[in-house]
Amino acid sequence: QSGMFTYDPGFTSTASCDSGLTFIDGEEGVLLHRGYPIGQLAEDSSFMEVSYLLLNGELPNKTELDDFEFTITRHTMLHDQLRQFYQGFRRDAHPMAIMCGVVGALSAFYHDSTDISDPDHRKISSHRLIAKMPTIAAAAYKYSIGQPMMQPDNSLSYTGNFLRMTFGVPAEEYEVIPAVEKAMDRIFILHADHEQNASTSTVRLAGSSGANPFACIAAGIACLWGPAHGGANEAALNMLREIGTPDRIPEYIARAKNKDDPFRLMGFGHRVYKNYDPRATVMQKTVREVFDALKVTDPVFDVALQLEEMALNDPYFVDKKLFPNVDFYSGVILSAIGFPTEMFTALFALARTVGWVAQWNEMISDPGQRIGRPRQLYTGPAQRDYVPIGQR
Ligand code: SDX
Repeated sequence: QSGMFTYDPGFTSTASCDSGLTFIDGEEGVLLHRGYPIGQLAEDSSFMEVSYLLLNGELPNKTELDDFEFTITRHTMLHDQLRQFYQGFRRDAHPMAIMCGVVGALSAFYHDSTDISDPDHRKISSHRLIAKMPTIAAAAYKYSIGQPMMQPDNSLSYTGNFLRMTFGVPAEEYEVIPAVEKAMDRIFILHADHEQNASTSTVRLAGSSGANPFACIAAGIACLWGPAHGGANEAALNMLREIGTPDRIPEYIARAKNKDDPFRLMGFGHRVYKNYDPRATVMQKTVREVFDALKVTDPVFDVALQLEEMALNDPYFVDKKLFPNVDFYSGVILSAIGFPTEMFTALFALARTVGWVAQWNEMISDPGQRIGRPRQLYTGPAQRDYVPIGQR
C-alpha cells in the first residue's frame, strides 16, 4: 500500500515502504548506502565490505569482515544435482533465463533454511544466495560455450573467484589480474543496491506474502532482465556498436527524440535521477583504468563519450533531464574484460543480489510487516447484467 510521509531534506513523496538501506536524491545525483556516498565506497571499499554494510547497517571491523568473507566463501559451491539442472537448457539459452531457473530451483534444495520466521534461516539463505550467485553466473557462461564448469577456489577473493570460474579452465592456472579484479569488484559495488527500483520492489512484494526467499530472488532476476531496467547494459553496448562511428551519432539522437520512433538511447535517462547518475561517473573513470591495465582500447568508448557530449548539449535531453545512467559505460568495461554482452545483465543480477537480500531481510524482519497489496484506478465498464449467449 502506498503512504505519504515527509523525510529529509524536507520534501514529501508517495512511497511503497520505509527503508534505511539506500538514499537517492535524484535532483542532486546523490546515492548513499547506509549514509556512505557511493563514490567513496567505490573508491575505498570492497564488494564484500559493502555487502556487510547493506546487510548489517555498519561498516565491519577487520574481524567482522574476515568472518563474513569466511562464511560467504564456504557457501560458494553448487550442489552437484543443481549442476545437472543446467543440462536441461539449450546451449544458446540467455544467461538470465538460466539464472532465473537455477536460482528458483534453489528453493527446491534448501528446505533447512526457508522458515522465514527463523532469523537463522533468513541469515543462512541470505549468505547462500550472495555466495552462490558468482558460481551460478559463471556456470551459465561455461555452459553456453561448452566448457567444464569450474569449482570455486576458496583461496581467492569473492571477485577473483568469480573471474577464475568464468575465464579459467581446468587445464591451466588462471592468473587474476589485480586491476581487473579491482574494476570488477567496483562494478559489483556500483550495482549492489538502488532503493526501490523495479526488481527490488518485485522481491519485496513477492517476499511480503512469506514466499520462499530463493523464489523471491528468482522473481527479482526476471524483472531485472527487461531492457528498460538491468537489460539496458546489454542493449547500450549493442546500440553503441550499431552506431559504430561518431558521424552516425546525430542519426540516433534524432531517432531518440522522435516520438513516433520507439527507439530510446539505452543507458540514458532514469526514473529518479534528473542529474548525472553518480555511478556513471565512476564507471566512465573505470573504463580508462581497465583500458590502461589491459593495454586495450575500443572505438566504442569514443562513440560513447561523443554521444554523451552531444546529448548533454541537446535541448531535448537537457529539458527532459536525461543523463547517462549506470548502464551507459558498464558494457564497455565488461566487454574489455572479456564478457559477451549476453552476460552483462547476469553480472548486474549477481551484484544486485545483496541489495535484494538486504531489502528482503529489512522487510521480512519488520514486526509490522504486512502483505503488499497495490491498488488501482479502475478504468473498465460500470456494473452491468449478464446477457445469455443467444441474445448477444
Ligand atoms: C536501471 O530504478 C532504478 O533505480 C533502476 C536502476 C537500478 O540501479 O536499479 O538505476 C537500473 O534500470 C537504469 C535505467 C536503465 N534503462 C535504460 O537505460 C533504458 C533507456 N532509458 C529509458 O527507457 C528511460 O529513461 C527509463 C526507463 C530508464 C525511465 O523511463 P521513464 O521513467 O519513462 O523516464 P522519464 O519519465 O524520465 O522520461 C521523461 C521523458 C519521456 O518523454 P515524454 O513522455 O516526457 O515526452 O524522457 C523520455 C521519455 O520518453 N526519455 C527518453 C529516454 N529516457 C526517457 N528519450 C530518449 N531516450 C531515453 N533514454
